Amino acid sequence: MGELTKLEVTSFRNIKHCAIAPHRELNILAGPNASGKTSLLEAIHYLALGRSFRTSNVKRVIRSGDSETVLYAELGSGAKSGLRKCRKGDQQLKLNGKLLRGWESVAREIPIQLLDATSFSLLNDGPRLRRRFLDWGVFHVEHQFLPTWRRTRKALLHRNALLKRPGRTDESQLAAWEEELVVGALQITRSREQYFERLQLAFGRVLASLNEELEKTVSLQFHAGWNQEHELDQLLVENRSLDKSHGLTRYGPHRADILVKAEYGRAVDVLSRGQQKLVVSALKVAQGELFFETGKQRPIYLVDDLAAELDEANRGKVLQLLRSLGAQLFVTCVDVEVFESCLPRGVEKNLFHVERGTITA
Ligand SMILES: Nc1ncnc2c1ncn2[C@@H]1O[C@H](COP(=O)(O)OP(=O)(O)O)[C@@H](O)[C@H]1O
Ligand SMILES: [Mg+2]
Repeated sequence: MGELTKLEVTSFRNIKHCAIAPHRELNILAGPNASGKTSLLEAIHYLALGRSFRTSNVKRVIRSGDSETVLYAELGSGAKSGLRKCRKGDQQLKLNGKLLRGWESVAREIPIQLLDATSFSLLNDGPRLRRRFLDWGVFHVEHQFLPTWRRTRKALLHRNALLKRPGRTDESQLAAWEEELVVGALQITRSREQYFERLQLAFGRVLASLNEELEKTVSLQFHAGWNQEHELDQLLVENRSLDKSHGLTRYGPHRADILVKAEYGRAVDVLSRGQQKLVVSALKVAQGELFFETGKQRPIYLVDDLAAELDEANRGKVLQLLRSLGAQLFVTCVDVEVFESCLPRGVEKNLFHVERGTITA
């Protein structure tokens, strides 16, 4: 199972050291502002994916004054994963005692979904976050997706490099990389489309249970990254000189997106902020459902400060949906009583108090 059974965090943000045994389902991290709640979620995210949702600068996450951070987790499956990351840049990532070069197998072992302030801007940010959201699902369903994506990205980078070279472009080299790019693009797009169809259905069901009215007007549409009425190989050839003036490739799977539409236009232009947050919540829950359907494994949800994002009624509904997935939840809050008012009485859980970087059960 995907859940964390043990978590140890050393020298991460303001957390000097903590070792906790999480509950299989609900974990509440409660404490005042700036006590270290988000930092604990960030530490789990960092171990699972090798990046933070708050900064792209690794040094920021290492506790100031310390030279390295160490994160360690044990999982219900029996897997053990550890990361040591030094301020100078060296790092060691391990899974079951074996040193790894990349995060792929750890990301599979610790499937993380994040619901925080940044994820609530999924609809009004550029396509990158939505593409990453879609690809999380595809990555977990289709094991060939990542290697295909890497090959395609390499072809794309080569094409861009050739386009940026001054003087006459080497057409035969360009054609070779374009061919590779198109082969990968079609595979990636097929996988994304197959996953997207299932996501669309699950999303509709989940949104209806959150808000029936909204479900009647909101729809999703997949955009491959180019107009699929045209062949990508043709588009690339026709756009060589325009792409050259931009110094990049304007059509391809690196431009894919999920378009979220409401009755009279883009959801982001039409829906209220509160409605948009429900749409995002439905997307996140739907993805957890599909993940479970596919691998009979449950994702781990990191839910940061839901009280700041949703009103009490909707908070209750979203939490109920997440709990009904049977997923392991790590939720943060300032006031436990306010938080618990959204939960049915007597729910089993672990409550952790966070105070100036110290975490106690
Ligand atoms: N690298 C670091 N070293 C030490 N403290 C840090 C570091 N980065 C951030 N902090 C501090 O950690 C504290 C906890 O932040 P955070 O986890 O966001 O709190 P919460 O989510 O509980 O409001 C903040 O006071 C912040 O200034
Ligand atoms: Mg916080």
